[in-house]
Amino acid sequence: MNKHILHVVGARPNFMKVAPVLRVLQEDDGIRQTLVHTGQHYDANMSDVFFRELDLPEPDINLGVGSASHAVQTASIMLRFEKVVLEDRPDLVLVYGDVNSTVAAALVCAKLGIPVGHVEAGLRSFDRAMPEEINRLLTDQITDILFTPSVDGNENLAREGIDSGKIHFVGNVMIDTLIRLLPRATDVSTRRFGVLPQQYGLVTLHRPSNVDDPVMLQTIMDTLQKIATQLPLLFPIHPRTRKRLQEMGYQITNSALQLLEPLGYIEFLALQKNARLVITDSGGIQEETSYLGIPCLTVRNNTERPVTITVGTNTLVGQDMERLKREVNRILGGLYKEGSIPPLWDGHAGERIARIVTQQW
Ligand code: UD1
Repeated sequence: MNKHILHVVGARPNFMKVAPVLRVLQEDDGIRQTLVHTGQHYDANMSDVFFRELDLPEPDINLGVGSASHAVQTASIMLRFEKVVLEDRPDLVLVYGDVNSTVAAALVCAKLGIPVGHVEAGLRSFDRAMPEEINRLLTDQITDILFTPSVDGNENLAREGIDSGKIHFVGNVMIDTLIRLLPRATDVSTRRFGVLPQQYGLVTLHRPSNVDDPVMLQTIMDTLQKIATQLPLLFPIHPRTRKRLQEMGYQITNSALQLLEPLGYIEFLALQKNARLVITDSGGIQEETSYLGIPCLTVRNNTERPVTITVGTNTLVGQDMERLKREVNRILGGLYKEGSIPPLWDGHAGERIARIVTQQW
């Protein structure tokens, strides 16, 4: 009898993580797969474009939950997903990353006694003010099989009392997708935005701690305008950030800071690959820049991905804008660290997950 594996995704950073796992499992005739999209992200440029570019199949089911408060969003996913699980009775559910969709789906499965695996387990920022940290802690406590991207993940899980037999260090699935699509990320995109390779910086900011407080957001934006006088900046704007800037009526006076719509995966990858530096508060981008060897300045006080600092090209600048400017100058002056690629970020994490799933479950 075919084994039935159901994958749950919901928000932009989930899509590049599910793609390699789904792809490898597709080659196994003994496995039937279902892809559920919770609808946490729904705009075409936050969702559809990724399905197309990553060659993901159309979701079999879209729960259509949309945006809401954390409680409402998480609860709506649970209510709708429980029906799917009761009807489909999958043999294993796989959840990805640390978004609200991840914890909601894991909790439904744990209560129904359906085995659930967490891809990207064990990461910890030790900052419970971050919604994602709560999602990570809870998900890892209630999942049956935990796939870690780096050894710090194993250490964190061991400290939290998770049975070592459930934990598998498989490497970084997001890097599988990056390696597969890198050849398609040409420098056409840099020309489209009127900048030259190595002569611009790329910015993304969407964390509530940076964008939900108008004073903080204003300080960050003013600093970016100053940095843009030295190095043109491209800033594809997350809908959360755009909304906040509109509410504040923020005006950009330096045209060297270009605000763009959210970009697709391949175009954004091309912009990362060709950038002189990246300024971000995203988790995934800290990893992608480390793989690509591009200096990354992270506007956060902590990271759940410490390997990007100890091994990769990442530096935490906190919310200290003077520090951000100093680090930009160090990079422009050629004084920044080189970094290397963390272990098992090799393009084969999806295969390792598939092997464990097929052999042990
Ligand atoms: C979510 C994840 C975060 C991840 C980010 C990537 C949680 C708790 N947070 O944050 O970990 O880094 O996705 O993007 O799960 N919106 C749109 N269109 C969309 C989606 C959202 O306009 O397609 C707007 C809505 O105004 C919404 C806001 O963005 O209220 C925030 O969306 P939400 O999914 O709640 O959180 P993100 O900030 O995207």
